[in-house]
Amino acid sequence: QANTMWGGRFTAGPAEAMDAINPSIGFDRRLYAHDIIASKAHCEMLVRQGIVAPQDGEAIRDGLDTILREIEAGSFEFKTALEDIHMNVEARLKELIGEPAGRLHTARSRNDQVATDFRLWVRDAIDRLDTQARALQEALIDQAEAAADLVMPGYTHLQPAQPVTLGHHLMAYTEMFGRDRGRLADARRRMNECPLGAAALAGTSFPIDRDLTARTLGFDRPTANSMDSVADRDFALEVLSAGSILAMHMSRLAEELVMWCNDGFAFVELSDAFTTGSSIMPQKKNPDGAELVRGKAGRVIGALVTLLTVMKGLPMTYGKDMQEDKEPVFDACDTLELSLACLRGMVADMKPNAGNLRAATQKGFLTATDLADWLVRVLGMPFREAHHVTGRLVRAAEEAGCDLADLPLASMQAADARIDERIYDVLTVDRAAASRTSYGGTAPDNVRAAARAARERFL
Ligand code: ARG
Repeated sequence: QANTMWGGRFTAGPAEAMDAINPSIGFDRRLYAHDIIASKAHCEMLVRQGIVAPQDGEAIRDGLDTILREIEAGSFEFKTALEDIHMNVEARLKELIGEPAGRLHTARSRNDQVATDFRLWVRDAIDRLDTQARALQEALIDQAEAAADLVMPGYTHLQPAQPVTLGHHLMAYTEMFGRDRGRLADARRRMNECPLGAAALAGTSFPIDRDLTARTLGFDRPTANSMDSVADRDFALEVLSAGSILAMHMSRLAEELVMWCNDGFAFVELSDAFTTGSSIMPQKKNPDGAELVRGKAGRVIGALVTLLTVMKGLPMTYGKDMQEDKEPVFDACDTLELSLACLRGMVADMKPNAGNLRAATQKGFLTATDLADWLVRVLGMPFREAHHVTGRLVRAAEEAGCDLADLPLASMQAADARIDERIYDVLTVDRAAASRTSYGGTAPDNVRAAARAARERFL
């Protein structure tokens, strides 16, 4: 039989396949709290404006409160036939309070209703993500401070480049996650306008007060154009793009953790809490947590592409296509929250292996740049020539099977007779790291200062 909400115009009910494709209640029930809050704000405004009688408004408010309790107690019966959360709530309101329930939808459409509910949900999600990203930063800063003096190879092209400290390396991620939080905060600022009152698409002839509902719901102001209000989901796309970049950053850190606990590196040990064993190989301790954080980035990026694709061909204004906005956003936000929590735990628990980090710095001629710089600074050699001389010394060390610091002075002087024993001062990795005191550089004191500053900036 025909739908009760629009049965007036319909004589026949939906086909079976239509019944399967049309409802969103299976997933948009997650909007229930925001739907009820927005309805209460709308109702209060209707009463204030004299559009709904005060006693009807009271009945509506009490009914909505009852529904909230029912949903939270698990006793609410969600009905697929009622399509979505909005109609499920309204139908139940009718059961509870009768005729006044029908007055709630005055000067409103599901189009502005869902846009409002979803913005409220996304806004909360941004706040949760910010809290968790902050906690991840805190774990990174704690570890960075503890590892401010731990030298390790810094890489470019994944080839040993120059000595850095583990603290400096970890602070690099702290900066990245700081920008991720900044992007989320920007998105939040931009999206914090209230679409409620845009009605179906054109606004309404009822004397509503959109400023009031906007304020009640914690928005900065009402949206300025009713068509835009119901037509766009860019606020969700912004969260998905900022979220995708965040996921990409998490994935890179996770990849490094996977690498670092490989035997070839053995830079850190992950805790039992974030690793798994093997059912056949008793010796195994696999970094599954990190691998999953790396893998789950794919879902978040997929969600962004999904929603961009859904939106890109839609003519003004609302199209039911837009009902496809929720699942990717819910999934991406859930995935981001879970990944942040796991990564935070892994970082907080990880134990750097100072010996292995240092041992790794003894290969790869990490102080070659320092040697060349010395030739420039002390002998006044042009850098290009110094580069060449140093290259010859690296080859000599390679042939001798030793580090630059272990080359005898005679071999040094064979490359340039003016070299004296002072050169050995710059050839230890600790000296090399400590000498990089330029702002943003890896010197341990800089790292400690950067960590202190980061606490101020981020925590
Ligand atoms: N469930 C719908 C959605 O998520 C609500 C809005 C429906 N509006 C409409 N005119 N059919 O988009």
